[in-house]
Amino acid sequence: MSPLGILLMMFGGIGIDIKHSDGRGILRNQDRQIALLDNSYMALLTVLCYPDPRLHQVAKPVAQVDARIKQIVADMAETMYEAPGVGLAATQVNIHERIVVIDVSDEQNELMVFINPEIIWASPEKKSWREGCLSVPEFYDEVERPAEIRVKALDLNGKEFELDADGLLAVCLQHELDHLQGKVFVEYLSFLKQTRISQKMKKRAKELVGQR
Ligand code: NI
Repeated sequence: MSPLGILLMMFGGIGIDIKHSDGRGILRNQDRQIALLDNSYMALLTVLCYPDPRLHQVAKPVAQVDARIKQIVADMAETMYEAPGVGLAATQVNIHERIVVIDVSDEQNELMVFINPEIIWASPEKKSWREGCLSVPEFYDEVERPAEIRVKALDLNGKEFELDADGLLAVCLQHELDHLQGKVFVEYLSFLKQTRISQKMKKRAKELVGQR
């Protein structure tokens, strides 16, 4: 099934209660009551591209996990799967609230939702990973970060959970949480590289506008 189909089953549009996660924030399709409404509707959101200044806005905490937030999560997840990407922060879609969606599974069927996420522990050991970002298309570079982290967040029921992460998930979480602080991964690179990327991205934007 396509990620969109899975999502439609998972969320079923506004008004359907989002069922319990597994306590680690992962929503597994098979654990859920499946509901698909004919009037389900989700919009693909526009992803801001570096060096858009709105990517530097600091996101505010979510006050309450309500239907509005659930719809934002559904739209963000759809946007991430469609891109395709393994993670998306609300900041990237010009929503300045602390919401992150991630799916690092091979099958792209384990959506993880983090509302008001905080890193509460980071390992002293670091690891370098080649990162990319939906806001910096076609650009990848090495960033060094703590190899393991522990994150605290709210799930879609507004329930707090903690999660230990390593590998790609740890990288992805740190990358997305940076977005919520208004930081894009290229800002870890040299000033020279940042300037080059910025110029390339501006050129790319002009070409895309020219094609319209
Ligand atoms: Ni990113």
